Amino acid sequence: MAYKTKEWRDSMRLAVDYNNVTDKFLGEKGFSRKQFKEMKAKADEAFRFVKENRGKDELFMGWTELPYNQKDIVADILATARSVRSKFDNFVVLGIGGSALGPIAIFQALCHLHYNELLKKVRKGPKFYVEDNVDPVRMKALLDVIDPAKTCFNVISKSGATSETMTQYLIIADLLEKAGVDIKENMIFTTDAAKGNLNKISAKLGGIKSYVLPDGVGGRFSELCPVGLLPAAVLGIDINGMLAGAAYMDKLCSKNSMDENPALMCAVIQYMAMESGKNIGVLMPYSDNLKYISDWYAQLWAESLGKNQTLDGKPCNVGQTPVKTLGVTDQHSQVQLYTEGPFDKIITFLSVGSYAEKSPIPHGCEDIPDVGFLGGHTMEELIQAENKATAFALTKAGRLNYTITLPEINAFTIGQLLFLFELQTAYTGAMLNINTFNQPGVEAGKKATFALLGKAGYSAQKEEMDGAYAPDEKYIIK
Ligand code: PA5
Repeated sequence: MAYKTKEWRDSMRLAVDYNNVTDKFLGEKGFSRKQFKEMKAKADEAFRFVKENRGKDELFMGWTELPYNQKDIVADILATARSVRSKFDNFVVLGIGGSALGPIAIFQALCHLHYNELLKKVRKGPKFYVEDNVDPVRMKALLDVIDPAKTCFNVISKSGATSETMTQYLIIADLLEKAGVDIKENMIFTTDAAKGNLNKISAKLGGIKSYVLPDGVGGRFSELCPVGLLPAAVLGIDINGMLAGAAYMDKLCSKNSMDENPALMCAVIQYMAMESGKNIGVLMPYSDNLKYISDWYAQLWAESLGKNQTLDGKPCNVGQTPVKTLGVTDQHSQVQLYTEGPFDKIITFLSVGSYAEKSPIPHGCEDIPDVGFLGGHTMEELIQAENKATAFALTKAGRLNYTITLPEINAFTIGQLLFLFELQTAYTGAMLNINTFNQPGVEAGKKATFALLGKAGYSAQKEEMDGAYAPDEKYIIK
């Protein structure tokens, strides 16, 4: 069944305004029509690669089908969420990286900004926490504010072998056991269909309620599968709306034409920016709700594109460093650098057409013109004006910038935004001719941690780290 009416869906369509990367506005610092035309062959190839490989688990492109293939899973998630909302005071996600950044971003985007502080009768669901670190102080702080017996823990790990997540699991499982709580009642796993340690633990405990992180979906592309859908549903977020938004964006991106396909155009712009030495990609949402979309995007962009080998095995060192900022807050911190510093950045603004609140600014201080002019406007007008003003100032200074506008922030537009960024990443990776979907650099760090903590099978690596990589005292100042 279609989600809402076609008129409503079209009124919620995201827009990409890339005027401020063109030579029309940036002169010789911008891209000309000719340069866009020269990208056509590369863009065609990237479009074809993504289209031909959609849904292929072996290439980790299963995420393209998530908007369409989860009807039964969504029904099951909604039933579980109803039960979690009625039974528990807290819902805690234990996970890291791709298993945490999506739930954090969606919580911030679609829930009250002080959700946990709201009265329970207003919240209607449990308090929500995502523990994506192994800082012992943070773990203690969490345990100071929750009663584990009244908490549902969603352990999310595709591999079930991530030291951070499994450490958190061990601590919580021990606490529950000591409190005489049946772990099966208070835990839900989200993991691989069959492989991995969480499946082993579940079997040992007689079957823990588990959701599948599908084979062809990597961590950073997993927000629209149970990794993100279960926490969102527990928070009362309209997960069907998120999936409908993703499907809507998928359709908008079905044309092999960068002028009509927004994700392909964004990929082309980012690729041209990288080619012209813009090694830093700033994402600057003008909305506190979108603040952690930047964290989610940073992982997607960095882990997917930061690679040292092309698909045909040639050495390369590609990628673009994502920088997370917030408008207007960072106008008073970083924009000076963006405007006058090195020409090594492209800025993507996330703008909001209509904020959920307007906050009229009362008249006052009319005898002080510097303050009085604000009265009679709204905070919405102010933030939108500052967004436009920053784009104007950057453009005047010859800085590449473009704007993605969400008509408003809701489940449907957020679904569109996630899918837009996922497709943009897939297209850009294809243009760079790299494997967008692996993360050997992350695995290397995981293995070195195993070695340091004495995991069986890693003694050679431990010796290497104790030997050639042992710190030389002469380079330590203390
Ligand atoms: O995107 C990725 O693949 C990584 O960030 C993983 O999500 C992260 O390392 C956690 O891995 P796992 O889900 O296996 O615990």
